Amino acid sequence: MGKTFDIGIESLAGGTAVRKAAAVREPRTAPLPLPLRGAPKTALRSMRGAGVAVEAAGKSFFIETFGCQMNDHDSEKVAGVLQGRGYWPVETPAQADLVLYNTCSIREKAAQKVFARLGDWKTLSDGKIIGVLGCLAQQEGEEIFERAPWVSLVCGSASYRKLPELIDQLESGGRRVTGLDLDTDETFETEITRRDRLLSAYITIIEGCDYACAYCVVPRTRGPERSRTSESVLAEARRLADAGYTEIQLLGQTVNSYRDPGPRGWRFVDLLRAVADVPGIRRVRFTTSHPNDFTREIVEAIETVPAICNHVHLPVQSGSDRILKAMRRTYTRGEYLEKISWMREGKRDISITSDIIVGFPGETAEDFEESMSLLDAAQYDAIFSFKYSPRPNTSAKDLPDAIPEDEKSRRLAILNERQRQIQTARNETLVGETMQVLTDGHHPARGVWGGRTSCNRLVNFTSTRDALLGEYVQVKILRASANLVGGEHVE
Ligand code: 5AD
Ligand code: SF4
Repeated sequence: MGKTFDIGIESLAGGTAVRKAAAVREPRTAPLPLPLRGAPKTALRSMRGAGVAVEAAGKSFFIETFGCQMNDHDSEKVAGVLQGRGYWPVETPAQADLVLYNTCSIREKAAQKVFARLGDWKTLSDGKIIGVLGCLAQQEGEEIFERAPWVSLVCGSASYRKLPELIDQLESGGRRVTGLDLDTDETFETEITRRDRLLSAYITIIEGCDYACAYCVVPRTRGPERSRTSESVLAEARRLADAGYTEIQLLGQTVNSYRDPGPRGWRFVDLLRAVADVPGIRRVRFTTSHPNDFTREIVEAIETVPAICNHVHLPVQSGSDRILKAMRRTYTRGEYLEKISWMREGKRDISITSDIIVGFPGETAEDFEESMSLLDAAQYDAIFSFKYSPRPNTSAKDLPDAIPEDEKSRRLAILNERQRQIQTARNETLVGETMQVLTDGHHPARGVWGGRTSCNRLVNFTSTRDALLGEYVQVKILRASANLVGGEHVE
């Protein structure tokens, strides 16, 4: 397995060449971040260490990312691979010799968006190499060449280890190259990972998924589950701490299914505690947890280790046992709610968020009511809610009793409205509390700073001090709404 090390993005070229396609996301009830303003790059440069200088070369690249945090982080690694080979990032696809799309296919809309992007190059791709990475690449494979003959590279995430080889082939004149194997048991570890987030660094600890949820493309697009050794994860965490990061986010489609393939044989909770113990690391987040592998030990770790953030994203998908079974979710409503009660009755307040799908085939009005009543029972701090979207190669694709689109939309609106009320009420209970915030945004015109609490709440606040970006500050909460709390910095 390759050695991983990180270089500060400033030393490479700035983070602009990896653009996030935010518009592809479904409307979500969860908070949106305050835009970063000011000049955090210079403010934080000293925190990151000198890094490794890479000479500008003739070839430039641009990568646009769709979808989840795993994709965001894969793009950081792909950018690192390219920059390590002398490619130079540029701000727009028009300027680039190599244009890459790191794609998502979790819902149809996400896939359509990528094909629309590819369509832009139909008459303009002359001399450029256009590549498709990620879940849509894996799902559609060589079909992409049929639909967009100007594409030269198609590579799914389970084959990213082969990327340098594929790039070699393109550089030596290869017209069409593919990396579509799913049988790799390796994880994607890079010599260089370019870090595009200024305050919080991602570490993928487990790739792929061994569950088989009826609606989900991920097991097909990302392949079987593979965990990294705890040794390599900890080494990466230490390097990040040395580079000045204080917050780490452990990533995996089912992050808590982690099982150390190394001699220690650690479970997820052991790794979580060990990362939180790395000197210099003040916050550790993790996402996404699968309810089946969510244990009391994880709750105990959150309760006893302040550096482990008190936020758990625990997607339920439906409140109806009948639908959970049809979705092949491997737990019942009762079992799920029991796990919620471990957290709600525990010693430390833990924010809980979830994903919910409405309009799965056969979802009756009663089933939907069960999802509504689950919102009341779970009292989530935020949810991501989706209309079911049939996907290729999933077992739910051909299920009978499809729910009409307008009925799905109606259910989604009702669900979101109920959740908005719950969130507002929950946020209001925070008024009067003082919370620690990691400042990650500034809106000078409005005189407002922004940041997140350990429990992942967005906080806007005023302060009499300057230069707070990257600082942990105490904020007294004075106001609350559904997606945001507001307050003032107290010393
Ligand atoms: N349709 C709608 N939502 C889906 N998700 C996954 N697959 C689908 C689908 N086919 C949602 C699930 C998952 C989240 C990342 O996306 O809620 O947790
Ligand atoms: Fe998809 Fe289910 Fe795996 Fe999550 S656990 S990635 S929803 S198959």
